[in-house]
Amino acid sequence: MVKSASGSKHFGKYVIESKIGIGGMAEVYRARLANNEGSVFAIKKILSHYSRDENLISMLVNEAKVSVSLRHPNIVPIYDFGRVGDSYYIAMEFVRGKNLKDIVQECRRRGMWISPKLALFIMMEVLEALAYAHNRRDNFNQPLEIVHRDVSPQNIMISESGSVKILDFGIAKVRGKAAETQTGILKGKFGYMSPEQAKGKRVDARTDIFSAGILLYEMLTLENPFLADTELETLRNVKRAKYVNPRLLNKTIPKSIEKIISKALKKNRLGRYRTTEAFQRHIYKVQSNEVGFGGATELCNFIMALFQTETTPPKKFTLEERIPEVSDVKLIEKGGVKRAVVVVSLLIVIVICWSYRSHLSVMTRNVLLTARNWFRGFTASPRPLDSLGGQPERVQRRTSTRPFLQENPRVIFEGEAQAQLGRLPFEQFETLRNDVADKLIAYLKDRLDTKPYPYGRTQQAEIPGYHLTYRVFHQGEVIAVSAIHEK
Ligand SMILES: Nc1ncnc2c1ncn2[C@@H]1O[C@H](COP(=O)(O)OP(=O)(O)OP(=O)(O)O)[C@@H](O)[C@H]1O
Ligand SMILES: [Mg+2]
Repeated sequence: MVKSASGSKHFGKYVIESKIGIGGMAEVYRARLANNEGSVFAIKKILSHYSRDENLISMLVNEAKVSVSLRHPNIVPIYDFGRVGDSYYIAMEFVRGKNLKDIVQECRRRGMWISPKLALFIMMEVLEALAYAHNRRDNFNQPLEIVHRDVSPQNIMISESGSVKILDFGIAKVRGKAAETQTGILKGKFGYMSPEQAKGKRVDARTDIFSAGILLYEMLTLENPFLADTELETLRNVKRAKYVNPRLLNKTIPKSIEKIISKALKKNRLGRYRTTEAFQRHIYKVQSNEVGFGGATELCNFIMALFQTETTPPKKFTLEERIPEVSDVKLIEKGGVKRAVVVVSLLIVIVICWSYRSHLSVMTRNVLLTARNWFRGFTASPRPLDSLGGQPERVQRRTSTRPFLQENPRVIFEGEAQAQLGRLPFEQFETLRNDVADKLIAYLKDRLDTKPYPYGRTQQAEIPGYHLTYRVFHQGEVIAVSAIHEK
């Protein structure tokens, strides 16, 4: 990186503005094109010692080629891949927003839940991207067999407009290869692997389905189901696919969602959803019958509220808070002999579990939590739920699977469309954006009654002057345009 007289750092054709983060293989920077101040990118710069490994780089080039071809509103697009000096880099869309890891952490810190409605909304968006990638075929119509391999909260971005986007397609394969020679590179990643991945076996789309199940579990309980004190223990938990029932950690999770999680987290991949679409269909059923449909606007409001400056001190809670404390014992004694028996049994269980904690950590927690819930009764709340975190609301049943448009839908531009607009001078950019938005809304409103379009799918539209690729987000509040071709 070359530092200029003005203090800005030049990196090839880019000017680096700030560092966003660092992962196992790369540092990520926010950057602009040196000759076009308007467009912002995220530059993923591969750490120098990996750039020297030829095998690794040729694998990265192959993966990047496939990733560049992925164009979907829920996938962060890659625009450029190359080398500056000894450093290899990937330039991609910069997503203004938060990653899911930060969101879960902030929820824990503030003592807020992510509502089942929003968690399922995020899940559907993630699955939409995975379904698209898993089904990609080459020019000879042969399946490309793309697997993400690292569906983890750090790789899920929620943009300021409430859209959900996956990062790093293909990177995990390269990182896995690098890990064969470098220790520590997979740090923090074991908790999101599938059992077959943890055992080093061949993986397919069902690995991403398992990891997506972990995401859903973590969004709803704010805990990774397999994470333990050491990486070795975590790996062992993943291989066994044993976890605490999520409803013991958050009693607002409906049984129907517990079933979804358990199907996705089956140890044997034959028992899981066979395809991402099957996973989506099950979620859709639960959304329609019970939980309701979250949307981009709702998600955006939730994130804004979550990260806004605090007016009241955050409520800190730990897992221990959810397990009965010794002080509870006194209360129990007042309940008579029956309760005393329960207390003694509980203490015995605690002692046994404590002695065998390394072997029985999952079972111990299950027993403790079940006992606690039985004991207190399911009427007492384990901790106050913030109204913003969203208790599951009473659901409005949807009678139609056809998306509808709200009165004034918002049109947003993403991916290729955003890049196209970013290259235009401001006035042209405004005119084109407004023109496309108006025509697309008119086009959709005209067709609402006559031409059903499948819920949430990427669609094509022929509007005067343009050919568009777009998607109507849940609840018809937002239309995301991902590509504009002038006719
Ligand atoms: N395109 C992007 N737009 C905005 N932020 C990004 C983008 N890409 C990455 N980031 C941020 O940079 C951080 C570091 O990313 P990176 O992918 O290097 O690490 P990681 O995902 O934690 O680990 P790894 O990818 O090695 O498994 C991410 O957590 C994310 O918040
Ligand atoms: Mg990443």
